[in-house]
Amino acid sequence: MTQDELKAAVAKEAIKHVVDDLPVGVGTGSTANFFIDELAKIKGRIAGAVPSSERTAERLRGHGIRILELNNVNELPVYVDGADEITEHMAMIKGGGGALTREKIVAAVAKKFVCIADETKLVPVLGKFPLPVEVIPMARSYVARMMVKLGGQPRLRENFATDNGNAILDVHGLAILNPLELEAKINNIAGVVTVGLFALRGADVLLLGTGQGVRTLTRK
Ligand code: 5RP
Repeated sequence: MTQDELKAAVAKEAIKHVVDDLPVGVGTGSTANFFIDELAKIKGRIAGAVPSSERTAERLRGHGIRILELNNVNELPVYVDGADEITEHMAMIKGGGGALTREKIVAAVAKKFVCIADETKLVPVLGKFPLPVEVIPMARSYVARMMVKLGGQPRLRENFATDNGNAILDVHGLAILNPLELEAKINNIAGVVTVGLFALRGADVLLLGTGQGVRTLTRK
């Protein structure tokens, strides 16, 4: 099976977690795009979708799916999104597509986080994928120095601004043995808007696309 076929399979499986007549939170990226395409088939059953980026909003709109503003949503039973890396403990690196801040906000509101990923994303230790950190532009050099102190090699994502008008540092060379601790440490650095470590609020369910079918893992 190709990687796209695995992504399509997990996207299809994720539809089973969508709750009728209520809103659904929708992530960003190529795997989330497959989910949006599946969601379009059942759009009459949901109250609407809360997007985690402008790109996702545009794709939802293209399918005629109603967009809801997070501030107007009282109950969000489920958020479906991909990941750049995930461990069996459900901690993730996200933000490869630069949407980490809104993704973290929508995930925080949702009762259940369903991560959809192909099997290449499951790793024993996070950090091979460079850790994205969204920063206020004037703080980028300071935050970069702090990342060096934490053992990483930060690189500014060139010619890129987030939906919130900020910059992204991609931090290479980290072996993240304690994601909870590192997330809290980076959150405490002045000028950091969001770190792409999702450990404090990890996934509740992982739908993993494999050659043998979709595996379902749940948070222990
Ligand atoms: C975007 C993200 C994505 O979920 C992550 O980059 C995975 O993307 P893809 O499904 O294209 O591999 O965090 O900010």
